[in-house]
Parts: sequence; structure tokens; C-alpha cells
Amino acid sequence: MIDIIEKKRDGEALSRDDIRGFITDYTNGTIPDYQTAALLMAIYFNSMSREEIVELTMAIAESGDQLDLHDTVPFVIDKHSSGGVGDKTTLVVQPIVAACSVPVGKMSGRGLGLTGGTLDKMEAFTGFSSALSMPQFKQQLVEMGTALAGQTAVLAPADGKLYALRDVTGTVASIPLIAASIMSKKLAAGADAIVLDVKTGSGAFMKTLEDAQTLARIMVDIGNDAGRKTVAILSDMNQPLGHAVGNALEVKEALATLRDDNPPADFWAHCLEVAGNMLLLAGKAETLDEAKKMATAVRNNGSALAKFRQMVVAQGGDGAQVDNPDLLPQSPVVENIIAPRDGVIAAMDTGAIGYASVHLGAGRMKKGDPLDYAAGFVLPCKIGDVVKKGDELGVVHGETAVKVQQAQQEILNAITWSNDPVARLPHFYGLVP
Ligand code: URA
Repeated sequence: MIDIIEKKRDGEALSRDDIRGFITDYTNGTIPDYQTAALLMAIYFNSMSREEIVELTMAIAESGDQLDLHDTVPFVIDKHSSGGVGDKTTLVVQPIVAACSVPVGKMSGRGLGLTGGTLDKMEAFTGFSSALSMPQFKQQLVEMGTALAGQTAVLAPADGKLYALRDVTGTVASIPLIAASIMSKKLAAGADAIVLDVKTGSGAFMKTLEDAQTLARIMVDIGNDAGRKTVAILSDMNQPLGHAVGNALEVKEALATLRDDNPPADFWAHCLEVAGNMLLLAGKAETLDEAKKMATAVRNNGSALAKFRQMVVAQGGDGAQVDNPDLLPQSPVVENIIAPRDGVIAAMDTGAIGYASVHLGAGRMKKGDPLDYAAGFVLPCKIGDVVKKGDELGVVHGETAVKVQQAQQEILNAITWSNDPVARLPHFYGLVP
């Protein structure tokens, strides 16, 4: 392992045997976290060639079982985001696509660095579990067309361990590590088609559109080379997606979106784009417009919400919390964020906003930290908004007044003001086919 670390530290390429040996030994516990953290940091700084990335992806995918779902359902689709702040898209698009009769076998992750994770959000439901056995994953796909699993001892176990280590060692924002982490999960979980949502901006791991395009290209090629139909959407993450940031608060916003109860416009537009592309790739529609209409119809007739409830209950969650989101965890301290001046919101350091939610307890500072599911904030203000001093910009939910005040300050510090009009940002920057 020392040789491998030194090789990568010195900018050399790792061989197939180096990568395979490292993944096998880290998965079985022979290599300690401190050496793995050193290698991850060396990869972070010196990157990897395309060949190394493909090898790492396949080694992680093969660290456990690889699902072949064709004895279960003829076609399965999956989606994955490269990570953002307020990104609760899966909670809405998975049931929508399943309600359009396309099975969605989803393999998700937990919070990572400044971003939230679908598994953490779903665990805001009392009793919900993503540790599905293979038979349960398959049975749910047959019975309800929707299942949400995490990395387990049998499904991409190497990613489960690497993911938790990267989360707390500053080694998340690396193109090879993100590409291998995402695509290994997608390949292991047996999807026939994959829609990737690659984010760019201050709250994304890829700060520039160019880096996002590079990441998207690598992942789409890995997917297509492995015989999976893969496309990537490039989407904006220069401000939180929707309004809510924090596990239970994001679940509530997702439920409101499934109920068409005044959902944030940017979030619904995003869900339609992702769900539409999933339906297109599945061959359910001829055009994106037609696919978006199908998605809207199953949202409006309540079948997507019913699908979501069915999955929550099947995975041990409390269906009463779907029916009445007020039963989800609630914070004892709730305080407004007040605009300190007149002006126009010119920019947001969305990474700092993400970390404000981590500091509140919605994410982890150390491996295995328990989460405060209720903590977070609702921040409806967007870049380009004209604001008066004293206006309410948002609401922070936390465990103590001290934590809430710290988050209020972190969020205000993350906002840049202008005296002049500021253009709204686009939601999307194109598609990588
Ligand atoms: N999502 C993942 O699963 N892995 C990453 O590295 C980033 C986002």
C-alpha cells in the first residue's frame, strides 16, 4: 500500500493490479483508513487517467455482487446526482417514473461533504431502511416498480467504505473519485439505463461548467461502454435547489411537490427535466415534452404520491408521516433570517450554505456522526431577488439557539448583495448524450 500511495503521490499511473489489490484489501479490512485517506488525497491532487478511472469503477462495482435484474423485470432505470444542496430530486422523480410503469431500481448514498444524501433524507421517516437484501430489492421492483437501496456488505461495499471516508477527509471533489463512486453503484445495481444529473456551481463539487462536462463525459462513456443507456443533464447549483435544506425539511418539500402543494418552481422544473429524460430513455415517450406531460399527469392524479408511500412502508418507514408531514422530526428552535439591507441578491456561496446545514447537524463532521433529522433551513430567496431591509429571507430550524444563530450568520455571510439588477440563473446547461 505504501508503494501505491507513493506512486500516486508522485503523479504516476496505477496499474490494474494496484487498483484491484487496493479495493479488495480495503474492502476486506486489511488496509487501514489512514493509508486509504492518504491515497485518496493523492488521487485528489494528481487525478487519474481514463483507464485508471474505468479500472477503479469496475473494481468498486465488483467488490460485491452485481445485480442482474432481467429475471425480475425486463427493464430498470436509475438516476444519480453528482451532489448538491437542497437536492431532493430522487424523492419526487423515482415515484413519478415508477408510476409511469418504468421500474426504478435506485442505489443512493448518504450526505457527502457539503451535500445532502438521499438515504439520510429518507431515514427522516421513522423506521425507514435502505439496507435491502437482494430478494427484497427484486421483490419490490416486481410488486411496486420502485426500490431504494444503499451500499451494503453485498452491493458496492467498497463504495460504502470509501464514501464515508471521503466525506470527512476533504477528498470528495475529485473527478475520478466521483465518477467511480457513482458509476460503480449504478453498474452494481443492475440498471439498464441511467440518467445522471451533473451539477455545476458554488454548491457543487464541479465549480466550473468545463469540469462538469468532463465528469459527465467520463460517466456517460463508462455507462455506455458497459452496455447501459446513459445520458447526463448539466444543471445549475449556484443556489440551493428548491427552498428546503436539511433532511426532514427536504422530505416535506418533496411531499408538497408530489401533492402539487405550492412546490418551488425551480425544483419542479428540475424534477420534470430529470423524470422526462428518464421516461425518454426508457422509450415511454417520443419527445421530452410528451415525457414531461406524462410525469405531470401521474403527479396530478396522485399515483406518484401513492407509489412513494408504498415504497416508504415496504422499506419499514411510517406511512402516517407521508400522510401528515407534521409528524416528521421537528426542531425545538425555529428563527427567521432577516435581510440586513436593501439590495438585490447577486450571488450565494452555496457550498457555505451546505456547510451551514452540516454544522446544524443535518450532515456529518466525523465518520458515523448521528444526524439531527429535523435541522436545516427553508431559504426561498433566489439570485436576482430584490429585497428590502427587514424582509424575511428564510427560516432556520435547529436544536439550540446557539446553533440556529450560527447558521443564520453563516447563511447571511454566504450572500453577496448588489445595488443593481441581477439576471436570474439558468436551471440547465445542456445534455451530454
Ligand atoms: N454521489 C456519489 O454517489 N458519489 C460521489 O462521489 C458524489 C456524488
